[in-house]
Amino acid sequence: PGKGAFAGKHIVITAGPTREAIDPVRYLSNHSSGKMGYALATQALRAGAQVTLVTGPTQLTPPKGAKLVAVESAEEMLAAVEEAVSADDIFIACAAVADYRLARVAEQKIKKQDGATQLELVRTPDILSTIAHRAKPPVCVGFAAETQDVARYAADKLKRKKLTLIAANDVSDKSIGFNSDDNAMTLFWHDADGELQRRDLGRAPKAQIADAILTQLHEL
Ligand code: PMT
Repeated sequence: PGKGAFAGKHIVITAGPTREAIDPVRYLSNHSSGKMGYALATQALRAGAQVTLVTGPTQLTPPKGAKLVAVESAEEMLAAVEEAVSADDIFIACAAVADYRLARVAEQKIKKQDGATQLELVRTPDILSTIAHRAKPPVCVGFAAETQDVARYAADKLKRKKLTLIAANDVSDKSIGFNSDDNAMTLFWHDADGELQRRDLGRAPKAQIADAILTQLHEL
C-alpha cells in the first residue's frame, strides 16, 4: 500500500512457529521461519502503521520500529496477543501455532526405554478464533496453510473464524510457504453483498506478497 496508508493504525502480527515443551530439553514445533510474518511487519511499518510483532522463536532480525514480544508456546502467544490488541486495531495471524501441546510437561528429561512410547497431546487455544470472536473484535486477517483442497478449506476458515481476509498457501510445495524466501498465495474475502471473492498472488518474494496482502486489506 501507499506510504501513509495505515498511518495512525496499530497492527498486531503473529509470526514464526510456537514450541510446545515435552521435557526440559525437547519440544514439538514446525518449520515456520517467521519470514512471512516479519515481511508483513516490515511492509506495515512502511505503510505508516504502529506494529506489534508477537513472535515465536526465529533466527531473524526484527524490523526496526516494531514493538517485539517474544514468546515460545501457543498459550504464551495468546496471552501476548490478548494484551496487545484492541477493537480499533488490525490483527494479522501469520504464526504457525502448534495445534497440540503435551498434556503434562515432564519435569525431568524423559529417559529412553525399550519399545514404543506415547505422548498424550491436548489442544492448544486457537488464537485467531479467540480474538475474532470477542464482543468487539479488531479487523482480523488469517492465514491458511493447507496441503490439499486449499480454496475450500480457506473459504471455510474465512467464515468460521469470522475474518475480513484470509491468505491461503499450498504448503505441499516446498519451494514456497514454510521457510522459503518466496511464497504464492490466494486471498479470499466477502464483498459487500456477501459474495466470496478471490485474488491469486503468483510466486514472488515474501516482501512483495506481504505488500499485496496489505494493499488488499487497505481496499477492504
Ligand atoms: O514462517 P515462514 O517460514 O515464512 O512460513 C510462512 C507460513 C507458511 C507459516 C505462513 O504463510 C502461514 O501459512 N501461516 C499460517 C500457518 C498455520 O498455522 O495455518 P493454519 O491453517 O493451521 O491456521 C489457520 C489460521 O489460524 C492461521 O492464521 C493461524 O495463525 C491461526 N491459528 C491456528 C492455530 C492456533 N492454535 N491459533 C491460531 O491463531
